Parts: sequence; C-alpha cells; structure tokens
Amino acid sequence: MNSISRRTFLGVAGAGIAAAGIGVPFVSGIAGASSTGKVLPSRVPLPPPFQRRLTLPPVLLPTRSDATTDYYDVVQSVTRATILPGLTTKLWTYNGSFPGPTIRSERGRTVTVRHTNNLPVPTVVHLHGGRTPQDSDGYPTDYVYPTDMSYYDRHLRHAHAGSGHDMVTGGDTRQGMRTYTFPLQQRAATLWYHDHRMDFTGPSVWQGLAGFHLHHDDEEAALHLPAGDHDLPLMITDRSFDTDGSLLYPSLDPTLVNQHGVHGDYVAGVLGDVMLVNGTPWPIAPVQRSTYRIRLLNACNARRLSLRLDPPPPSAITQIGTDGGLLVEPIHHDHLELAPAQRFDILVDFSHYAPGTEVTLINDYGTAAMGQVMRFVVGGGSPQAFRVPAQLSTIPALRPADAITTRKFDFRAGDVNDHDGWLISQAPFSPDSIAAHVRLGTTEIWQLNADFHHPVHIHLSPFQVLARGSGGPGPFDAGWKDTIDLRPGEQAKILIHFDGYQGTYVFHCHNLEHEDMAMMANFVVS
Ligand code: C2O
Ligand code: CU
Repeated sequence: MNSISRRTFLGVAGAGIAAAGIGVPFVSGIAGASSTGKVLPSRVPLPPPFQRRLTLPPVLLPTRSDATTDYYDVVQSVTRATILPGLTTKLWTYNGSFPGPTIRSERGRTVTVRHTNNLPVPTVVHLHGGRTPQDSDGYPTDYVYPTDMSYYDRHLRHAHAGSGHDMVTGGDTRQGMRTYTFPLQQRAATLWYHDHRMDFTGPSVWQGLAGFHLHHDDEEAALHLPAGDHDLPLMITDRSFDTDGSLLYPSLDPTLVNQHGVHGDYVAGVLGDVMLVNGTPWPIAPVQRSTYRIRLLNACNARRLSLRLDPPPPSAITQIGTDGGLLVEPIHHDHLELAPAQRFDILVDFSHYAPGTEVTLINDYGTAAMGQVMRFVVGGGSPQAFRVPAQLSTIPALRPADAITTRKFDFRAGDVNDHDGWLISQAPFSPDSIAAHVRLGTTEIWQLNADFHHPVHIHLSPFQVLARGSGGPGPFDAGWKDTIDLRPGEQAKILIHFDGYQGTYVFHCHNLEHEDMAMMANFVVS
C-alpha cells in the first residue's frame, strides 16, 4: 500500500467512526477521504483551466518610516473583481485586492499596520506565524469595529443581548480603526494575515480577507535565494460561485451579524470546486529556465492538498522552509501535503525542462477539476543553474527531557449549544475559560488527539513535531511549525518552547468551519 492509499483508507475509517458514533456529517467519496468537509457545488459552469495569467499581489509600501518602524495603512472594504470570465464577484478585501497586499518586513524593524474597517461587520486581524504581543495578536474578540456607526444601532445591542459575548470590549483607540504593532523579533518566514473574528472567520476569509506577510532576515539574505520575480508567493484557495458570479457560502446568517455557523453537512468544512491561485482560477505562469523560490500557502478553509509537478522536475521539489522559516538543510520531495494554513517554501529548477514544456501543479487529493492547481510554461533562453546551499540554517532541537509537563488535548466533534460543533477536550471555545497556564521560557509536550482531519494551529510559539502515533515525525513535519496536520484517529506529540510575550493567546483548528464552531481554546503565558 503506498502512502496515499493508506491515508485514503484512514480517511474512510474516520468517516465510519463518525457515522457509527456521533453522527457528524462527513463527505463521502474521494474528497472526503483526504479532507474533512463537503463540496459546495458552484451554480455557474466552471471556467476552463489555464486561460488567465497568474498575478502576484501588490507589495504594500509604508505610508511613512522612521529609525525603527515602518508604518502601513490598510483599508478593509467591499470590492468587486472579475474572477470568472464575464462575471463580477463581490469580495471583502484588504486595500481592494484579493489576496490582500503583501507586506515585506526585515528583522530588526517594527511594523505597524493601521486597519480601517469599511466592511459591514466587525473584523479582527491576525498575523499568522507572528510572534506578537497579545494586544496586537488579533484575539478573536479584539474587534476593529466598522466605520459605519449605524452598525451599532442596527445590530450590536441586539447581538449583545442575545449572544452572551461581550461585543464592546477590546480597547479600540478609535472607532473603525485599530493599529497593530508587530515587533517581528523572529526568523525570516512566510507569514500571512487574515481575519480572525470570533465565530465568523470562515466566511470572512472565504470572502477575501487574507494576504501574505513575507519576513526577511540577514541569515536568509546570505543564501542569495532566488528573489524578485523569481520569488513567487502562491496563495491557494478553493471557492464556489453562484450564478451571478458572487461567492457561495452556506452561512446560517448571510449578514454574518447574529447567528454563526453553516448549514447541515457543511459543519465538517466547506470545500470549493474552483481552484484559485492568488485569486485567479487555474492560472498559467510563464517561467524562465532557472530556479524559482515558490512559497506555497494552503489558504483553503478546509481542503487539504497533495501537490506535485507534472512532468516532475529532475531535481525533485526542494523544500527549503516551512511555517516557521528555513529548514536546517534542504529536503527533496516528489510531492507535498499541505493542510489549511501550512506553508512550504520550495525551490523548483525549471532549467532542465525543454523550452515550451507545460508543467502542471497537480493536486492528488482533488477529483476532476480540483485535481489541478495551475500551470507553468517554460520559456526559451539558455538555462541558468542555481546551486542550492547544502546548509540553510540552524535550528536548536527541542528535547523531550527539557519538557516540564505533558498536556493532552482531544480534538473531536461534539455538541455546542445543542448544535453539531467541534470541541477541544470536550469544551467549546469561550473567551472566559483557560485550557492551559504556561510559564514563559519553559518547554512543554502537547499530545494532540484527533477524530478527523484537524489542522491544529498554536499562536505565539512555533513548535517541533516529536511523534505521530508510535512513529517519529512525518515527511512534511520538518522545521519550526505553527500548524500540524492531524489525520483521522491520529495522536501526535509536539514540543513547544514558550517564549516571546506574556498574555492570553489561542490555539485552534484551522479548518475554519471547525474554528467557527468552537474548536478553539485559550492558553495564558505568564
Ligand atoms: Cu491562521 Cu489563529 O490563525
Ligand atoms: Cu478541525
């Protein structure tokens, strides 16, 4: 049994457990074997693949800079874009683009981003992978309220009265705006920012609230990795579209104001049937006969990806980094598995392909059209060689012997207020309950147990994967991770060293439907 069919088997086994046990809906068929979720079919004919050019999100320039800090401004607003030929799609965007503008930062300089919220609902911004003080980490109830004050009259009092959440906390300095400060005392890495509003992250990200934040440092610069137009951030998202080109999403309350959650079977996760890369369906990208750095981000709400190139590059896919930055040394792969929120930094050498070769990025976890992602077309010109450095970085190996405690968390389906939902160790998320009190400067082992696929993400501190079941880390677990891809029935152990800042942070499943349906918990660092 090869590795893919073994995983498929595990997925089906997981579905069986659910059907017999707690009755949580689980998509049947091949998509369900590799992702926990259900396909939401588009109501428009799917656009043909490989028609439109890949675009890169615009790079954001600071509005001003001083000796220590670069200051950025981002406006969140409703924007109309052409994603499908001949149709207009209404999006929620950062500065009018999907993905949002890319922020590039340098270690040693602070970044502040002032967000203005011209959207109809409160939002929250989280820098995913950022080592960020609590007040700028985008705690799920630290809202940026809408500039449109009528929001309060129309909704807030009502929502406040009904929900039990305190909607009027969060320390806003000004209505409609919030300034986030990112010290970015951390290694170079492919970070991303996205909405993190309590109960409503899934539909908000689905509508476009996600962007790259590429962080750099001297260690990375010394490697002279492919840069400029040879550094391609690729945000992969699956989406579904209605007949008029608008995005489909199965919200119980389409205004995203009062009742959170999704209809019926989509509680397991919403899977789209149109593959977008940087907002374009199945794009095509001309490349030169040289080596590219490709930063893969799975920004799907629930879909897992298994990516490879066809025809495969003779030098394989060379992984140089992951969630938390550079690996110690390159790892060669024939394919990569990415759970939602994970990043893989790879080098692809296109110099050995004949001019004109079409190289397709395949998704072996997708069926039909979702089995493809995008296509590279190799140009003419003489091949240029790039020598991949044998050593990339150093990473101190965390040691189990240094762990002062082991905590266990169960990620399982369960009841949340009499609805199907998702729990961590039997508890639904509440801003008021703390699942773990940890000490700054200490190391712990966390044992994470899953019923289905759960991409578990921990804020503040990256971790190292110690074990999966009785085995060691998996082939895609190397380096500093901030999200681990837990598979059905799996038990994994991770080592976390808590450093950076004191405060209250969250960890949660990054299947965004699971997160919105309560699969999140607090930990306090003191
Ligand atoms: Cu990417 Cu807490 O999230
Ligand atoms: Cu989950």
